[in-house]
Amino acid sequence: MNYKNLFPIFSHHPELAFLDSASTTQKPQAVIDSISDFYSHDYANVHRGIYKLSETSSELFESSRETVKNFINAKKSSEIVFTRGTTESINLIAATWGEENIEADDEIILSTLEHHSNYLPWLNLATKKHAHIKKIPLTDDLTLDLDAYEKLLSSKTKLVTITALSNATGEIIDLKKIITLAHKFNATVIVDAAQSISHLKTDVQDLNCDFLVFSGHKMFGPTGIGILYGKAEILDKIPPYHTGGSMVVNIENDTPTYHAPPQKFEAGTPNIAGTIALKQAIQFIQKIELKNIQTHCQDLTSQARQILEQYPNLTIHSPKANNSIFSFSIEGIHPHDISTIFDSENVAIRAGHHCAKPLMEALKVPATARLSLHLYNTPQDLDKLDLAIKKCFKIFK
Ligand SMILES: Cc1ncc(COP(=O)(O)O)c(C=O)c1O
Repeated sequence: MNYKNLFPIFSHHPELAFLDSASTTQKPQAVIDSISDFYSHDYANVHRGIYKLSETSSELFESSRETVKNFINAKKSSEIVFTRGTTESINLIAATWGEENIEADDEIILSTLEHHSNYLPWLNLATKKHAHIKKIPLTDDLTLDLDAYEKLLSSKTKLVTITALSNATGEIIDLKKIITLAHKFNATVIVDAAQSISHLKTDVQDLNCDFLVFSGHKMFGPTGIGILYGKAEILDKIPPYHTGGSMVVNIENDTPTYHAPPQKFEAGTPNIAGTIALKQAIQFIQKIELKNIQTHCQDLTSQARQILEQYPNLTIHSPKANNSIFSFSIEGIHPHDISTIFDSENVAIRAGHHCAKPLMEALKVPATARLSLHLYNTPQDLDKLDLAIKKCFKIFK
């Protein structure tokens, strides 16, 4: 099935093979229309006005929260907090739950695969609190070493924070195993679902994670809208992150009484249009169905692997079973040069450390080239990839 025509960008760039969806996804017409429609027909601030337009705007906004709640199977819509993105969601947890719960000599376990946004907030907190970061290493076949993970767990483990799908290698992580083991030690678990959310089914009750975070822009939605899911009993206890408008019930004698979650965490005027358009992105995914997205991307992943494996001087830095994302190097060619040559063939990929320096250290490379696939990609895009690789070898022979 060719899904490309559902995304207007490709009618403006018909030659483009966009292989950079791990960075951000392109937008379907319904999401683009939603933003324009909202500003044209329904725009007013939320949770403030006692007039019709503001009530409509608030209803649309809250209906998006309900859609997110159902999409990830949270128990209550109050467990869904709107943020600016995955990065802000994780910083929120570090600044609230982390500040209150991490103490000297506690241990925070994360993986070698983490994106910097699930590494630096914890590194900074650990430094401040004299706590320790423990990294789950990789095995020789580049999968997460779960035996090593079991050995890292102890009564000192306060937090396990883990990606669901690596943004650099495409490994799908066995979250159930990681979460079950962590809970045996009473550790709190955060899942970074930034990459997995538009590829794999997410059920927070089944996973039993304590927090789960993701970004709208990586799931066909707009930029500037993200999600923080937290179990109600945890969100109830932790302090607010930002303070300001719309998050207090009352202030008497300089003593604020905060709203219950999620309002407690949503100070200030939110990204109203982006939040409302996120609902369209989720409905788009639901209409196509995640299982079809997965099959489409898995077929393309197999084809991409066959192409990459043809070339003896090309090293794949992704495990055998990966989903939609490959990191690779070509001997003697800098990843930036690979990307530039690919661009001359209308193939858009990412080159660099992919905000995953611990992984680059483990791979002993400064940077890699990364291709990432999604719903709108086609076998023809991969033919272009093949031609672009051949061009690299021709230029650098
Ligand atoms: C696994 C992972 N986590 C977190 C992030 C950060 O997401 P954002 O930039 O939308 O906050 C990314 C972005 O690439 C990612 O791939």
